Amino acid sequence: MSTLIVNIKELVQIRNSVVKKVSGKDMKTLPSLKNAYLRIEDGLIQDFGAMEHLREKSADTIIDAKGKIVLPAWCDSHTHIVYAGNREGEFIDRINGLSYEEIAEKGGGILNSAKKLQASSEEELYQQASKRLEEVMALGTGAIEIKSGYGLNVNAELKMLRVIKKLAKHYPITVKSTFLGAHAFPAEYKNNKEAYIDLIIFKMLPQIAKEHLADFIDVFCETGYFSVAQTERILMAAQSYGLVPKIHVNQFTSIGGVQVGIKHHALSVDHLEVLDTNDLIALQGSDTMPVALPSCSYFLGIPYTPARKLIDSGLPLALASDYNPGSTPSGNMNFVLSTACIKMKMTPEEAINAATLNGAYAMGLADTHGSITKGKKANLIITKEIPSYGFLPYAFGSHLIDTVLIAGEQV
Ligand code: NIG
Ligand code: FE
Repeated sequence: MSTLIVNIKELVQIRNSVVKKVSGKDMKTLPSLKNAYLRIEDGLIQDFGAMEHLREKSADTIIDAKGKIVLPAWCDSHTHIVYAGNREGEFIDRINGLSYEEIAEKGGGILNSAKKLQASSEEELYQQASKRLEEVMALGTGAIEIKSGYGLNVNAELKMLRVIKKLAKHYPITVKSTFLGAHAFPAEYKNNKEAYIDLIIFKMLPQIAKEHLADFIDVFCETGYFSVAQTERILMAAQSYGLVPKIHVNQFTSIGGVQVGIKHHALSVDHLEVLDTNDLIALQGSDTMPVALPSCSYFLGIPYTPARKLIDSGLPLALASDYNPGSTPSGNMNFVLSTACIKMKMTPEEAINAATLNGAYAMGLADTHGSITKGKKANLIITKEIPSYGFLPYAFGSHLIDTVLIAGEQV
């Protein structure tokens, strides 16, 4: 199967060789080509170039992208899209003045989602999560990481991970799976937290490894959730099964989560709404990708990750949605892009680099996703007719995508 896209107004994020991640000042550069073509063969980018150099003009499918921009599909490296029901009630509670932390203390929050998830069948969960996955694919997401973490017991955590595996099998989108058993302490372990960690280490992890259900290990390292020492214990146990850390840190407080992540070679440290100088210093020279989740800040009304501080000190930054029922009931990466530009003062070039190449890096997909590079997956966004790529974050809330291709196939 071959597809040829012709007359592309601007082909964005072209990289002639694999670039693993973009950092600091380089994030301001977004290589592109005007009046371009792109050829897809068997789901991969086979060739691209200027229209005047197009030789082979036949293909099974030809798409005319006159006036339209083509860019790599979004790489959303942080989501929790497998969940049951919603938490609209807590949304109203917050409107009426309660904080996210206060709701969690009353047994709402993650434990509320866990109760709903435990009562749902694998099939029900799959149906609900498929709808969310289809929605974000249509919004331009071509690769996604999905976490467990609303099960909080052996059966329910395994159930979530099996749903993720099934989604990966049935949809063309690339899916990476993360085990987040350490998302919250179940009520029955409130006074015996180490016993829950034992359950994660001795009951959940061996079964997950046996069934190959996860690529990554995550922990919500936060005041009132998992301490740095508990996080470290879990990371070390998971690493013995080959799971790479990608962890929730510094959402509300800076307690050393960044440092423990880096110490254990985390692929990414995510949230970072609260970032002190020591965190910034720790990130320097590490291979760990900082990940910002601006839709979460927007929804909860908490500070935005200080993107300027990170990027201006030479660090890379990735953007992801955090799609989940409690803090971010949206997986729209176009909104993430706009919010990063508007609220975090990232330029459109920085935001696009963060949502494509750096997002791919943050889920171990830099060799195959995140840029227009020969041999990479043909995961592409074709916009409607728009003046420039900067118009995407500028015209926030508008639906500017015409077509999404995943592995060369139209979504
Ligand atoms: O990334 N912070 C931890 N986990 C999720 C929210 C979980 C929830 O409220 O359901 C997050 O924001
Ligand atoms: Fe999250």
